Amino acid sequence: MNPLELLLSRKSHNKLVAPAPSDEQLNILFKAALRAPDHALLKPWYYRVYQEDSLATLGAKMAEAALKLDASISEEKLDKIRNKPLRAPMVVVASVKVKEHPKVPEIEQVLSGGASVQNLLMAAHFQGIGAMWRTGSLAFNLHLHSLLGFEKNEILTGFIYLGTEQGEKRAAKLLNIDDFVTRFS
Ligand SMILES: Cc1cc2nc3c(=O)[nH]c(=O)nc-3n(C[C@H](O)[C@H](O)[C@H](O)COP(=O)(O)O)c2cc1C
Repeated sequence: MNPLELLLSRKSHNKLVAPAPSDEQLNILFKAALRAPDHALLKPWYYRVYQEDSLATLGAKMAEAALKLDASISEEKLDKIRNKPLRAPMVVVASVKVKEHPKVPEIEQVLSGGASVQNLLMAAHFQGIGAMWRTGSLAFNLHLHSLLGFEKNEILTGFIYLGTEQGEKRAAKLLNIDDFVTRFS
């Protein structure tokens, strides 16, 4: 497959099993992630990698944060939250540390964070690694940010689930360009 075909065929996958990306593959993911467009070279992107036992620790922190936000949450819901990171052999927490800059507002730094995650997803696809970008309400839970060691200016941009794809994958659907693009001449 040539690079353009790869680009057009990227598709998320939610059933991810072991093996997780190898160290070598992971390095390529992050090399790509750190090549995102970046106004004023602020390098605002950060990544935390969870695998093996630390996935359960991440789940426990998610449950603790959910309980702090809502003391009446049911045990059933807490259990579901606790198990979230166990849906893949690796979860990467992506974030952006927003820096003060006279010409680069927060939105530009978050956009750069999104581009960085997309680079990571594409590098995963190129290497045959399954991936799914998730957020959900926990991404915006400040108790979780604190439990994960976030700085005050740090925004969580995604939980990136990575692993080996299990089961059938539907083909990527290409949208009708004319619905989204207006050309002028
Ligand atoms: C910032 C962001 C957060 C997302 N969060 C979730 C999520 O929490 N749950 C989910 O099912 N999909 C989420 N998605 C969408 C999936 O990652 C995926 O893009 C979508 O299911 C479409 O599939 P595709 O990537 O194969 O086109 C999110 C996407 C983005 C960009």
